[in-house]
Amino acid sequence: MKILVTGGTGYIGSHTVVELQQEGYEVIILDNLSNSVIEVTDNIEKISGIKPEFHKIDLCDEAVVNEFFKDRNDITAVIHFAAFKAVGESVNDPLLYYRNNVTGMINLLNALEANAINKFVYSSSCTVYGEADSLPVTENSPVKKAESPYGFTKQIGEQILTDLSKISGMKTIVLRYFNPTGAHDSSLIGELPIGIPNNLVPYITQTAIGQREILTVNGNDYDTPDGTNIRDYIHVVDLAKAHVIALKRMLDGKDENPLEIFNLGTGNGNSVLEVINAFEFVSGMKLNFRIGPRREGDVVSIYSDTKKANEILGWKAERDLNDMMLTSWNWQKRIGKK
Ligand code: WQD
Repeated sequence: MKILVTGGTGYIGSHTVVELQQEGYEVIILDNLSNSVIEVTDNIEKISGIKPEFHKIDLCDEAVVNEFFKDRNDITAVIHFAAFKAVGESVNDPLLYYRNNVTGMINLLNALEANAINKFVYSSSCTVYGEADSLPVTENSPVKKAESPYGFTKQIGEQILTDLSKISGMKTIVLRYFNPTGAHDSSLIGELPIGIPNNLVPYITQTAIGQREILTVNGNDYDTPDGTNIRDYIHVVDLAKAHVIALKRMLDGKDENPLEIFNLGTGNGNSVLEVINAFEFVSGMKLNFRIGPRREGDVVSIYSDTKKANEILGWKAERDLNDMMLTSWNWQKRIGKK
């Protein structure tokens, strides 16, 4: 059973490739290496013992995408991760995000249709909820006006799949991630931000290792218990395992609708300061941080209602915040001040 994973050398993609291989699936990776490095395939092999087939392909290059699929009739399903995901960057360069995330996805879907590949797992995001009216958010919580072009590309992706599922045989499972963090227990794969990290946890570990001078907490005057933003941090391995379960649900024909949506979170909300405290606890270090101004586009608080994934997928996040911090820190120590 061959599974195509776009963005498979990326952070969540690489962890999912390992879980797929360990469940006996053969994996083909398409990635343009714009935000990852080819050595990730070597590290995947070190973990699973199997080197995934890899093709350096940019989904925006329609001719190359069609060429790839031309002779392939061995692909059973696709897990689509390949996208840019830096909220701030998307505000400064919207066309880059619309081209890469939307045009790339349309090229992929056109090629899948032409080759009768009709099982699709889509990497979406809690970003689609914006500032929710009530918490925790369920899959029926309203999708709000996107706070960034990035968030909008995820909403567009879900809408494309919704419309497609009504008129084609395409079966889709949309997975809305909360805040992925942590790294594989082997410390061979993990989050590898290129340049200054946008996300909190890599910035914490890069500060702790001395690659960054100081962490700036983006505001502590929010309406939350300690004034800092609340998020639902989920271990990347828990997230990866959910993808395998979702894929298996489709392969076994258990999916009840042409398009199903699941929140993937822990159901717990933690503040920025709680994340810092957890890091200091597991590392035994004092983190150098200061309180700075709010960051444009940040929602105050969001965390998930995970009942649907728990009950229908039979999946539940198992790893806690301390484990996320410990595996992130072990990963950072292994790669050093890259
Ligand atoms: C978390 C909190 C920041 C950096 C991310 C991705 C988005 C989506 C969901 C995939 C916020 C604060 C951060 C720093 C800080 N993932 N922070 N100092 O914004 O919730 O969204 O996860 O789809 O693509 O961007 O995550 O880690 O950027 O921020 O205080 O140096 O940490 O203000 O409150 P976010 P984040």
